[in-house]
Amino acid sequence: MKPRMITTDFTEEDKKIEGSLRPKNLEEYIGQEKIKNNLKIYIEAAKQRRDALDHVLFYGPPGLGKTTLAGIIAEEMGVNLKITSGPAIDKPGEMAAILNNLQEGDLLFVDEIHRLNRQVEEVLYPAMEDYAIDILIGKGSSARSIRLDLPKFTLVGATTRAGLLTAPLRDRFGVVSRLEFYNHQELQEIIIRSAAVLQVEIEEEGALEIAKRARGTPRLANRLLKRVRDFAEVKYNGRITQKTAELALDLLEVDKQGLDQTDRHLLLTMIQKFQGGPVGLETLASAVGEDAGTIEEVYEPFLIKNGFMNRTPRGRVVTELTYRHFGIFAAE
Ligand code: ADE
Repeated sequence: MKPRMITTDFTEEDKKIEGSLRPKNLEEYIGQEKIKNNLKIYIEAAKQRRDALDHVLFYGPPGLGKTTLAGIIAEEMGVNLKITSGPAIDKPGEMAAILNNLQEGDLLFVDEIHRLNRQVEEVLYPAMEDYAIDILIGKGSSARSIRLDLPKFTLVGATTRAGLLTAPLRDRFGVVSRLEFYNHQELQEIIIRSAAVLQVEIEEEGALEIAKRARGTPRLANRLLKRVRDFAEVKYNGRITQKTAELALDLLEVDKQGLDQTDRHLLLTMIQKFQGGPVGLETLASAVGEDAGTIEEVYEPFLIKNGFMNRTPRGRVVTELTYRHFGIFAAE
């Protein structure tokens, strides 16, 4: 049986950009070696037992491949994929309906699972543990609960914030995997693969130039590739060389370290308004006009990983590297 997509809550932009470039199986998937090797074993074992795969939780910054991996697991297991997300489900009844419509072995992917509300989450507990849902029938004193059996299914949850998951939910996942940022070489490979899918000519050095500025993130690497391709087609002969990549990325204001305008604004604000910190997340968020959650989930992980920023008990601080990056000397 071929996997099919049922509901999606991704933007049109996301779907267009990523759809065609997503690897469809583990063989095509580049990077995240540890996760891939483990998944291979779990998938093989589940298939041998003719059993559903245990529930899997993927966490880590956006754009690293959580949704892609869910699609790959469904493909490798040969089961249907149904996609939904935390914010898309308001009521317990909606979750119960989704679960009740699953077929034996199906994979249910719940993106942003940390955003499920408590009542909806509680429907998942018996579903994950006993493959059953409890439905309340009647009202008042005659109300009673009946248990409805579900087919064995696999829940794959994804979150950018594992820390926000409640313990009862987290504990019900048999496999918990953290996705890591990709290194330059892995991103270069991904870009070369994507260029082949898009039928764009690219030199290895051109791919590496894009890779270096892609913040360790395949989604961004593929987006940058598309923008560089536009530039190469209009201004050059369509071939992406290191030079064209460099010129195009400079125009896009993505610097050599992959910092974009928002990153720079964030770091420079910390230096100029807060003497480099420490500054509290909320204070910083209002100073730069960004949402605190977005800073924490989207911008900060890369800046911390690459040594531009640190978290301290008293707030965020920039590092020596940041001063050097901007050619600013720290005040004595
Ligand atoms: N496209 C996006 N992510 C990818 C990955 N990890 N491997 C191959 N192609 C990709």
